[in-house]
Amino acid sequence: MKKATNSKAATLKFGSKTIELPIITGTENEQAIDIRALRKETGLITYDPGFVNTGSCESEITYIDGEKGILRYRGYDINDLAENCEFVEVAYLLVHGKLPAPKQKEAFSKHLNSHSMLHEDMRHFFGNFPDHAHPMATLSAMAVSLSSFYPELESIEQRENVDFKVTRLLSKMRTAAAFSYKKSEGHPIVQPRHDLSYCANFLNMMFWTPVNGYEPDPVCVKALNKLLILHADHEQNCSASVVKMVGSSDANLYASISAGICALWGPLHGGANQHVIEMLDRILRKDKGNVKKVLARAKDKSNPFRLMGIGHRVYKSYDPRAKVAKQMCKDVLAQLGVNDPLVDLAQKLEEAVLADDYFHSRNLYPNIDFYTGLTYRAMGIPTNMFTVMFAIGRIPGWIAQWLEMKADPESRIGRPRQIYTGPVKREFKPKHI
Ligand code: CMC
Repeated sequence: MKKATNSKAATLKFGSKTIELPIITGTENEQAIDIRALRKETGLITYDPGFVNTGSCESEITYIDGEKGILRYRGYDINDLAENCEFVEVAYLLVHGKLPAPKQKEAFSKHLNSHSMLHEDMRHFFGNFPDHAHPMATLSAMAVSLSSFYPELESIEQRENVDFKVTRLLSKMRTAAAFSYKKSEGHPIVQPRHDLSYCANFLNMMFWTPVNGYEPDPVCVKALNKLLILHADHEQNCSASVVKMVGSSDANLYASISAGICALWGPLHGGANQHVIEMLDRILRKDKGNVKKVLARAKDKSNPFRLMGIGHRVYKSYDPRAKVAKQMCKDVLAQLGVNDPLVDLAQKLEEAVLADDYFHSRNLYPNIDFYTGLTYRAMGIPTNMFTVMFAIGRIPGWIAQWLEMKADPESRIGRPRQIYTGPVKREFKPKHI
């Protein structure tokens, strides 16, 4: 792993002490103050709720420039990858650091196919979830269950073990995701097929039924590849940080991914794609499409309501993924001949947001979740599966981040500190019990 260069120093004065803290610089010239010696030298810790200013690691995987709206995986621009690659190629890129040569791609796809089935006993788990179970709950449970069915994959000492584990996880999570949907519908599950590509296979497991059959539509297969590529990684976001935090205690990869799925589920993170559609639907039905009223509600500080799919911690300009997602949404709906009033409403809402000083002054723009749900919806994917789709896309990113952390000699167990503000020492009196 390349290390960032170390140069100059920032000077910190505290009481009678003056210390020099090194500045480290990444390959894109981002800079950070290295505070590792801070507590030892001064007794101070840093206070940074939400880790807004905290770099937790050095990483070679994903680069984001939030001001310029740039996103690159392993140096490649997201637009180039989304336009020209299949999801499995991008998954390989994230995990291995380079795009696969044709033979490597073939071998990777073959591996993905050969590990796609779930252990028969695991399949029975699905029967014990209630029909109304959210598929994210099922998916997270299935991810951690893999550790009991495939414990031999817990060791990552050998690289070939890693490759084996990564393909298994990618493949089986896709199968588990489709099964969780079939279960929620009360339909018989559909097994994966070796003759189908990664995305076509997923769509087939979702939509094939004994009464109607199913032929994966090339428009949907292409769109799914693109959507999963857009989701594939986003450096130290909430769920990736959770995956790494859990992994830092030496918990196994499956447990770490399961925790990441739970983190992604939240509406402020990947769960936003489901909430965008629910919000648009409410605006259309209850507010009769009145976006002015909705904007006023979002700006009202006494109201916890926020516009879903708007704003981002890192992007202070248009999210580059949202740009691709917006264009794709238009193209896919046109190709499928779908007319969705929620798309017109979303565009109206976006225009109002971009023209409004509250959102403009806070650099709030549509994020990836604003348009992706509308495309999933046109493809027939039900709303409660949207975040599952995000999770399937994000798995290679989580794995790459987890592996990088494991290989980094500077990694330590994740363990932030705090400023205690509770009661000072009190006298204990037994009569209080
Ligand atoms: N609607 C209304 N106001 C907003 C919104 C929104 N969606 N997002 C941020 N703000 C306001 C916020 O109230 C604050 O205002 P003020 O300065 O007056 O206090 C200001 O903008 C800064 O917001 P913040 O909460 O400090 O920003 P954050 O970086 O902590 O939160 C966010 C980022 C994404 C959680 C937030 O923008 C949000 O809640 N957005 C809606 C949920 C959403 O779409 N999440 C998906 C994110 S992209 C997918 C992914 O996670 O990868």
